[in-house]
Amino acid sequence: MLGNFSYHNPTKLYFGKGAVSYLAEELPKYGKNVQLIYGSGSIKKNGIYDSVVAALKACGKNIVEDGGVMPNPTVEKLREGVDIARRNGVDLLLAVGGGSCCDYAKAVSVSVHCGEDPWDKYYLRFEEPECEIVPVGCVLTMAGTGSEMNGGAVITNHAQKLKIGHVFGDEVMPKFSILDPTYTFSLPKRQMAAGIYDIFSHICEQYFSGEDDNTSDYIAEALMKSVIKSSLDAMEDPENYEARSNIMWTATWALNTLIAKGKTTDWMVHMLGQAAGAYTDATHGMTLAAVSLPYYRYICPYGLPKFARFAKEVWGVSGAGKTDAQIAEEGLRAMENWMRSLGLAMSLSELGATVDMAEGIADATLILDGGYKALTRDEIVQIIKQSM
Ligand code: NZQ
Ligand code: ZN
Repeated sequence: MLGNFSYHNPTKLYFGKGAVSYLAEELPKYGKNVQLIYGSGSIKKNGIYDSVVAALKACGKNIVEDGGVMPNPTVEKLREGVDIARRNGVDLLLAVGGGSCCDYAKAVSVSVHCGEDPWDKYYLRFEEPECEIVPVGCVLTMAGTGSEMNGGAVITNHAQKLKIGHVFGDEVMPKFSILDPTYTFSLPKRQMAAGIYDIFSHICEQYFSGEDDNTSDYIAEALMKSVIKSSLDAMEDPENYEARSNIMWTATWALNTLIAKGKTTDWMVHMLGQAAGAYTDATHGMTLAAVSLPYYRYICPYGLPKFARFAKEVWGVSGAGKTDAQIAEEGLRAMENWMRSLGLAMSLSELGATVDMAEGIADATLILDGGYKALTRDEIVQIIKQSM
């Protein structure tokens, strides 16, 4: 049964080859000063920077440079971005990059006119913004997080060994996002694989919760099948437009809140992965891959019918003459084989974590109770050790 819900997504998307031309429609809606947010320089090598700057200049914008946003953006960088926005009276934050740039832009947007420290207010106290919010637009260059059409903004505090996401409301979500699948062609294969696994994990997090027969779970299964098929095609030929466009579109739908509507959700893989990320600063999708199978094998007995359904519907496992436990394990083995074929990290040790970090990672893990088993701290330590 679907529970009651309301659904509204305010982000306008422009999808396809050459979609950057739609900046000409969007930019005139905002004031003159545009903070151009980007990462460590990939957009300067692949030409995306030049296309965006040309569009900004054609619209007569004053460009305020804000490069150097690192993967897993830090609280120090956030404070720097806020300072840049304040000094330049910025009217629009334009993120050109992956989830890190989009998340960072949203975190800056709620902090420019806020008198308090953003880390304390939004990430430790989880308060909502009461101040004026600077609008955000995105030009996406990496598919994975769904940040282009959601209110999530994940920030890392290395001093406190915490990586925390705040999901802001409609008013913080990007006003528009430009999604050109060809912009993802230049991604290194390892980043592409990490993004693909992030997409798959977002769908699993919303799927592995509740026993009911609902539309959201059917949509989730279709999205999973699409990303599995396209991932194999894209690994073989990174410039396969069909595959890259399917991956980009699936990423957006995997986390724009649609498939969570009317049902409960889990999100423990992300809680474990984020805590491990705070200790290792490893790529987000890789941390998720490293903890997923130990976690799913642990909770499988508590949600057996769903894991058996996952095996049959997503991985094509035949159920004839088998118990649900056998079917479920076959499904998880198929998932494991797929993950290995993408070259994903299969352990936290590969990402630089050591067993002596297990207790600390467990302490940094936010425990949620929407999945098939509300974990105790001891169980979390056990799963983290199994992920090493
Ligand atoms: O720094 P640049 O030059 O941009 O290079 C990036 C970076 O090194 C590179 N890259 C991106 N597009 C490229 C490219 N390289 C070549 N060609 C391109 N077209 O890829 C690297 C990773 O980029 P990043 O933005 O960090 O990756 P991703 O999109 O995976 O974002 C990760 C961040 O998003 C958060 C994660 O925790 C992490 O901090 N998440 C945000 C979510 C949300 N808003 O809802 C949900 C997710 O679960 C996730 O937690
Ligand atoms: Zn994720």
